[in-house]
Order: sequence, then structure tokens, then C-alpha cells
Amino acid sequence: MNCQLMSVPKETTQPLYIDERRLQDRLRSLAEIGATPDGGVCRLALTDADKNGRDLVVRWMRELGLDVSIDAIGNVIAIRRGLEAGLPVMTGSHIDTVRTGGHYDGNLGVLAGLEVIASLNDRAVVTRRPLAVAFFTNEEGARFQPDMMGSLVYVGGMPLEQALATRGIDACTIGEELARIGYAGSKRVGMPAVHAYVELHVEQGPVLEAEGFVIGAVEGVQGISWTEFGINGQSNHAGTTPMRLRRDAGYVAAEIATFARRLAREMGGNQVATVGSLSLSPNLVNVIANRATMTVDLRNTDEQALREAEERLFAFARDTAAAEGVELTQRSLARFAPVDFAPELVQRIEAIARDMDLPVRRLPSGAGHDAQMLARICPACMIFVPSAGGISHNVKEYTAPADLRAGANVLLRLMLELAE
Ligand code: GLV
Ligand code: MN
Ligand code: MN
Repeated sequence: MNCQLMSVPKETTQPLYIDERRLQDRLRSLAEIGATPDGGVCRLALTDADKNGRDLVVRWMRELGLDVSIDAIGNVIAIRRGLEAGLPVMTGSHIDTVRTGGHYDGNLGVLAGLEVIASLNDRAVVTRRPLAVAFFTNEEGARFQPDMMGSLVYVGGMPLEQALATRGIDACTIGEELARIGYAGSKRVGMPAVHAYVELHVEQGPVLEAEGFVIGAVEGVQGISWTEFGINGQSNHAGTTPMRLRRDAGYVAAEIATFARRLAREMGGNQVATVGSLSLSPNLVNVIANRATMTVDLRNTDEQALREAEERLFAFARDTAAAEGVELTQRSLARFAPVDFAPELVQRIEAIARDMDLPVRRLPSGAGHDAQMLARICPACMIFVPSAGGISHNVKEYTAPADLRAGANVLLRLMLELAE
């Protein structure tokens, strides 16, 4: 393996590897913050738990000698100086989680970045370009939509003011919550510009494990469309109201939910559809629901197909609501087109993995990631490692230590190459 650097003294030019135990210790310590009784983690964006997680990671960044800054949307960027001034090679991810999160989604990318820095510090290696480790605000989008918000603002895809005014599921705004937890930073969003961005992440799907691969060279991220439907009908007595006279919001919501599923099955390919949130009001056994609120998450690697799925879903929702005599409102919560990562970086990941005797394959990402936003401003790519059973956004999320080590070593090697 050729990991030698011009700046490493000759007598210490053995290959560089990360320290697996140190990485695991940090993953475990961070997972204690917001730990849930079932072994999972709940650190929804900008809650007290997120603040405590941020404080810990910022402390680690400072202990590693990094220059830490916080921008106005709460993104935290930590820089390690290079031999030359210039744009940094950046890695990172997010440390917010969904309500039923595990230990690895996002956290791995940030803590593997810190482990890369720690390993370089151990050997006093100085790269030519600066290195940066970042964690971006509200990647998950579970509390505030859209997802990937911090990185979206970073690349100029959403005005800061609009992001700060965004209300979450509990009616708080991003701006209020950033100020409350002390992460409304003073730095201008979007600084520094980035030479290249690399993100290590768990696959969150079944492919690598099922096919016996250790490393995924991610070619791109599929498109995402999140829609919230509000349905207003009329409450009435469940026993006395004839079927033909009902204006049943619950029924319309159920029809939309089953249509979304049918649509994805029918379209095939990479089309997926999920109704992850559905609430009825007044939500009582013997009262026809007058109000339903629901979300539909549609994704596809192909933009044309994703548009077709949206059009068919929206038309079905309109027709079904009209036939039942209920009022339908529709709001887009997130809409991102599919993204291709830089082909030369995808090739580099493959080459590094092969050189390290790690089975590698290319694959698309089913989940959204900060890397898809950074791809708008610099060459970007992602390294995946297997998720046991393909399980994620679930407290049982797990990646074997050897796979974490492999992924972090590929990250280290790639960052060294890109920084020279
Ligand atoms: C973010 O994790 C998403 O893909 O929903
Ligand atoms: Mn993630
Ligand atoms: Mn996630």
C-alpha cells in the first residue's frame, strides 16, 4: 500500500492506518447522548440532546488541535492546517438522528473524520492542503423539513433566512432553536469553499452485506420527493351515517397510502414510496375522521420516473378527494433531483479498496446525504460500509467493527491522496 507522504519523515513512512478502538470508543460515547432504553439514540436536530452531542464533538475537535468555527445555520467546521494555504479536503456528515436512530447513521462519517485527523496527528503527518471535518445541521429532516438543510444552505441552495424561519413538527423555528442551544454561529455560511468532499456512511440498505462486499463506491444519490397532504372532511357518527353520505378524511388518506405502495410496485425499477406519518382527527373509534394529515416519501434514481410518480400520485389524491367530497391541500416538504458523484473519485475509492484487498462494488445511495449537496460546489463522493440486515433508521442499526475499520482506512487514504 502506498500511503507515503512527502511531508512524513523517512523513518516513519510505514503505511498509515486508523485506530479502530479509538473510533469505537468515540462512537460509543456519542451514542450515550440521547440514548434510548432500547439501545438506540434520539438526538433530533437542535434539541437538548443534539446540543450535548455537538458539545462533545466540538470538544474532541479542539482536543485534536483543529480550528473550529460555527456558522449561522449551526454547521460546525473544524480545520487542520496544511503545508500550503488553499481550499481544504473536507469530510464529515451529521450527528442529528431520527427519533428511532442507531449509533452509526451520520455519526460514523463525522467520527471517522476525527479518527483520520487523530491518526495523522499521531504520526505528525502534515498534508499539503488543509483538511476539514464538518457536521451539518439537520441532515435528517425528521424535526424540520427539508432534510440536509445545513449543507443545502452551505452550498447556496436555500437562503439562510428561509432556513432560520422554518418551523418544525413542534412549531419551533430553526433560528429560535439554534439560539437556544447556543449554536447560532457568527461565521458566514458557505465558508470555506471546498477542494473536494468525501463522506463515509453506513449503507443503510442490504446490498453490500448480501453480496459479500465490504466497501461501496457510491455513484450517486437518488432523487427525493416529500409531500404532505392535508385532508379536511366532516366528522359524523360512525353508526348512523350511510356510506354514500360520508366525507371521510381517514378513508381518503388510506386510499392515498395504498395507492403510493401500488404505484411503486407497478413502476418497478428503483421507485420506492413510503407513508411514514399519518394522523387522524379526532382519532376515535366511533367518529368519522374530519381531518387527516399524512406524508408521502417518493424516491427514484431517475428524475423522469420520479416526476411521473409524483404526477400520478397527485392526480390520484385529487380525484379521490373530489369523489369523497373532501378538501385536499398539498405541500412539498422536500424535493431534490438525483445527484451523480464525481466519476474520478468513485474510481479512486474502487482503486484504494482493491489495493487494500477489500471487496468493493459500485452502488447508488437510497438515502439522502450531505454529500449530495456538497456535490453542487465541488467534486464529491461517498464510501459505504455494510449495514447488518440492511437495517437503519432503527435502533438495531449495526455495522461490524472490521467494516468500520475498513471504511475509515479507505477514507484516510482517499483524503491523503486528495490533499497532496
Ligand atoms: C435521510 O436520512 C433520508 O434519506 O431520509
Ligand atoms: Mn445519514
Ligand atoms: Mn438518516
